[in-house]
Amino acid sequence: MTVVTSDIAAAAQLLASGHLCAIPTETVYGLAADASSSTAVARIFEAKNRPQDHPLIVHVADYESALLWFDALPVWAQELARSCWPGPLTLVGNRTQLATDQITGGQHTVAVRIPAHPMARALLVELKQVGVQGLVAPSANRFGHVSPTTAEHVVADLGAYLAQHGDGILDGGPSEIGIESTIVLATGSSPRILRPGAIGTELIESITGISVDAGSEGAPRVSGALASHYSPDAQVIVIADPAHEDFQANSGLIALIDIPTPAGVTRLASPADSNDFASQLYEAMRQGDQLNLHQIYVALPTRSGIGVAIADRVAKAAFVQTQEPS
Ligand code: TXA
Ligand code: MG
Repeated sequence: MTVVTSDIAAAAQLLASGHLCAIPTETVYGLAADASSSTAVARIFEAKNRPQDHPLIVHVADYESALLWFDALPVWAQELARSCWPGPLTLVGNRTQLATDQITGGQHTVAVRIPAHPMARALLVELKQVGVQGLVAPSANRFGHVSPTTAEHVVADLGAYLAQHGDGILDGGPSEIGIESTIVLATGSSPRILRPGAIGTELIESITGISVDAGSEGAPRVSGALASHYSPDAQVIVIADPAHEDFQANSGLIALIDIPTPAGVTRLASPADSNDFASQLYEAMRQGDQLNLHQIYVALPTRSGIGVAIADRVAKAAFVQTQEPS
């Protein structure tokens, strides 16, 4: 059978029968399974080659369904959910019985979000009608690689495995945002950002009226987060000023459009602003690998709003390379 489809009913059928299906979301593509099927969930770890203790995000159709997974949510988190969902926000709250150890990596908290992509939403609504209360979906890349933002990226990383097992990929076009959701810890009296994303500190503070825990943005603090995340094969190097950089041969550049391309360097992306930068980043890194570039230089946009999340992902990609130069 064809692995890639744009038929939501076909994807729903696959998932309801215990198969995996990669799904489009507004952030990145996820590799989904029925959260209540332990055999299907186990296959996610197998497909991605993902460590078992690395917890998964549960994707649900609506707020009512989200509440089934949380024991209780602080009022500020309820407000955040109501204004940001559907959207690129994941809340980590105390779990109910529905969230098994297999999903949470044995933790007493569970991560939940309502994706905004219309096809993902339609799929979740259709599945809810047949009793599926949530889909667990990590990013649909092989473990450690950059997240996929198109169905083609999923095919490149997991296509062979999915075809072999009769699983599917729901094609919903390129992900609009391009980097993973903001993860907010919602177990205490104030928000704590575990992973920065499109929903930044300023927005969270303006919605909740509460200051985000100081210093909670930036460093990877998400449980199970490893250094080897979000990484292409090429060496990623963050640069301050391309005009003063000594570019090595066979290298590429990702930078805002007003920054010129030095002679001999392959331009991988020329985004117009920070939002464009986020949506093009992973595609550009993958393209660098396809061209067998040795180095990918990245000139970061301003470190505010989504720029914080961009800096976080690029730093992780660069970190691996400097720590493990193999
Ligand atoms: O935008 C996204 O969030 C995408 C799309 C597909 O929804 N998903 C995604 O999933 O990025 P994944 O598995 O690649 O990253 C999920 C992150 C992991 O870093 C994991 O450690 C964290 O969420 N996480 C999940 N459950 C958690 C929990 N109970 N406590 C703390 N962190 C948790
Ligand atoms: Mg991931």
